Amino acid sequence: MRSIVISDGSDLAGRISRRLGARHVRYAVREFPDGESKITLRGKIQGRVIVVKSVHPPVDTSLLHALSLIAKAREESAEVIAVVPYMGYARQDREFLSGEIVTMRVLGRLFRGAGASKVIVVDIHSTAGLRLFPIRTINVTAIPALARHVKKMRLRNLLVVSPDRGGAGRAKKFAAELGAECMALEKKRDRKTGRVQIRTKDADVSGRDIVLVDDMISTGGSIAKAAQFLKKHKCRRVYVACTHALLIGDAKKNITRAGVAGIISANTIPGGTSVDVSEAIVQAIRP
Ligand code: R5P
Repeated sequence: MRSIVISDGSDLAGRISRRLGARHVRYAVREFPDGESKITLRGKIQGRVIVVKSVHPPVDTSLLHALSLIAKAREESAEVIAVVPYMGYARQDREFLSGEIVTMRVLGRLFRGAGASKVIVVDIHSTAGLRLFPIRTINVTAIPALARHVKKMRLRNLLVVSPDRGGAGRAKKFAAELGAECMALEKKRDRKTGRVQIRTKDADVSGRDIVLVDDMISTGGSIAKAAQFLKKHKCRRVYVACTHALLIGDAKKNITRAGVAGIISANTIPGGTSVDVSEAIVQAIRP
């Protein structure tokens, strides 16, 4: 029996469904004046169901849509796979300050309770959060696809840079795909205000093209600070490659003002760009 893909009709969901030869069922959302969502499926469900829904801003609404779709699918099907290309709340994977709720633990219970048998995410901020899920999870990566795109740009004397130490492993993998050098800056974020500072004192980047690699851009604060630092140290051009370009508010403007020449991102956020990750997701769905 053919699988069914349920989605909001994003570019990524369309590609996943074509690669699987699945039937694509969309849904419509009507928002009530008080903010409630009325979700209506546009087709019948049977067989294995794959729900494709990123938990992107507004994250709480997207989360409820994802859970509702999974729950509805589970009423009709014994196997429901949740593909959550961008998993909001992934940064809340531990108690940083006393009393903070580890929301990723809550999400794990919600996805299981709704009826997902497996959750597939892309370049999650930290896999520690996924380990809190009481069901099977797979974290696929967009790094090779992003790196292939960057390769075609023919950058000069390329240096791959992570804006923080936490992303050093990601930058290393990215650099390895391109046979380039890499380094990580030291970033400090104030846990109360969210303000970002680059603590690295010096960097030998003079005349080099830079690709800043990150899992996500939200407000753009981290990337803007890193780009300003690199420009101050006389690098040539700065590009950003990230998986999830949320680009909240003036993020794009602020990043451009900081000297970034272009942003390369994956198609995990509807309406975003360009680099397709459907192949890696379909490999994780298949077994
Ligand atoms: C943090 O460690 C993440 O990897 C990103 O660097 C960060 O969440 C991006 O957020 P913003 O764009 O608001 O600085």
